[in-house]
Amino acid sequence: MNKTIYDAVKKIRQENIVSFHMPGHKYGRLPRKIEYQEFFSDIYEFDTTEIYGTDNLHNPKSIIKQSQINSRKVLFPESDNYDLIYLVNGSTCGIESSIFCSVKKGDKIILNRGCHQSVYNSCLVSDLKPIFVGENISKEGVFIGVEEREYIEAIENNKDASVVIITRPTYYGMVFDVENIIAKAHEYGMRVIVDEAHGAHFNLHDIFPKSSVYFGADFVIQSLHKTLPCFTQASVLLVNRDRINRSEMGKLSSSLNIFESSSPSYLLMSSIEICVEQTEKFGKKLMEDLLNNIYIFKRKVKNYKIFETSDPTKIFINTIDKGINGHDFAKLLRYKYNIQVEMSNYSGILMLCSICNVKKDFDLLYDAMNDIVEKNMFTLNSDDNYEYDGFFGYDEKVNYGGVEDKSVSDDGIKSLKKSKKIDLDFPSVIPDRRLSPRDAFDATKVSIDIEKSVGKVCGEFIIPYPPGVCIIAPGEIISEEIIDFIVKAREINMEINGMLSSDFSKIQIVDCD
Ligand SMILES: Cc1ncc(COP(=O)(O)O)c(C=O)c1O
Repeated sequence: MNKTIYDAVKKIRQENIVSFHMPGHKYGRLPRKIEYQEFFSDIYEFDTTEIYGTDNLHNPKSIIKQSQINSRKVLFPESDNYDLIYLVNGSTCGIESSIFCSVKKGDKIILNRGCHQSVYNSCLVSDLKPIFVGENISKEGVFIGVEEREYIEAIENNKDASVVIITRPTYYGMVFDVENIIAKAHEYGMRVIVDEAHGAHFNLHDIFPKSSVYFGADFVIQSLHKTLPCFTQASVLLVNRDRINRSEMGKLSSSLNIFESSSPSYLLMSSIEICVEQTEKFGKKLMEDLLNNIYIFKRKVKNYKIFETSDPTKIFINTIDKGINGHDFAKLLRYKYNIQVEMSNYSGILMLCSICNVKKDFDLLYDAMNDIVEKNMFTLNSDDNYEYDGFFGYDEKVNYGGVEDKSVSDDGIKSLKKSKKIDLDFPSVIPDRRLSPRDAFDATKVSIDIEKSVGKVCGEFIIPYPPGVCIIAPGEIISEEIIDFIVKAREINMEINGMLSSDFSKIQIVDCD
């Protein structure tokens, strides 16, 4: 068999790319360097199941139970009122399970508009009535988060809601105060679930905002794999025992049985233990070094605007002000300089740094960014094609911005054009809702031209990525503002998830006839 996946991943591995992307282990740099060679060389031997001598994640009694207790003590030493549960299907299954065990069918749920897809999916599964709180997004497309005041208002106006979902930090590393939101929600007996998928490293330094565990959230979910050295999907769920009683714990456990694999991976669980041990032994020192490297890098960078994030390990660099859109810039970095970013949008690039990044990574990034400036790529005429060394030899179709490439998988960059600056404001108003997400999901859909869809009930999710905020969800009324946004997004070849029509010319609506 032609091993397309294996071969592609092996090729990337051999290229030895500099990783500013997830997972946080950066190709196993730290675990490989320090110890655990046997884990790497005997990976199959660590892949086992529920046999004599192991344990059952869904009903842990021995080694998993003890390991979870040990990890809680290391990661959250002051929070012994919380139980820590390992998750082997990412924060996704932790979010879905904690919502499912906290609601009854048809309940109201208060959630931020930019929440993860798993929260929307929970609305579908339990036929929930979503009350959205608007998202602040900078003009570069960076998620700022939600105003505390808006959450409090949503809670005051919907005292019968059963759950409040908070996404903090945002993917871009921004936070906002949660203490008052949590206290207000608790005042009315609501559960508070905090999606902290991007904040698993917050305990490693005082410079970071505090985890919501310190403010008494009912459930907090963290993806260890995103920002710590851990295998992809390895995550944890923290449960506040002061608020979740034993019978509710039983309901949580049943919910995890629904949303999580019944075959928990010992590779993932071992990777969590290795990660926690490394964090305990070296985490604080390595984080200090990382923050120092980031500080020096930011101070040295003169030619680019860097967005100030609450979490300094997320670095958003504005490239469009210099004339290159973020997507083209990301390709240049990868195919010319062997540096892979976490994410690009039209305005710039997002770098995700972890304790596994070393000074050399930042030096290489700095040199690459300087080289791009020195090669004068930012002063190009918008009409001119800049023949850039011909460093990749393809010349087929012109992609959205200025870098010509053969396809996404081909590293065929040949020439560079200046990108125009485009103002693309996110629709500011959350659309009115006609049907619940579940009713809209179940309804018959028809596909119509988007230009003719204003006033109709939307039948699909429309999620421009990045930033990944849903601009309209099934059951909501399509407005002119939303159509204008989609048309403009199409012009700059923005990726839009959820739409059936691949060229975004048609939209699925609920057939109300
Ligand atoms: C804000 C947020 N929450 C939750 C998730 C899901 O995390 P996981 O990949 O661990 O399932 C993501 C994934 O990207 C995310 O960005």
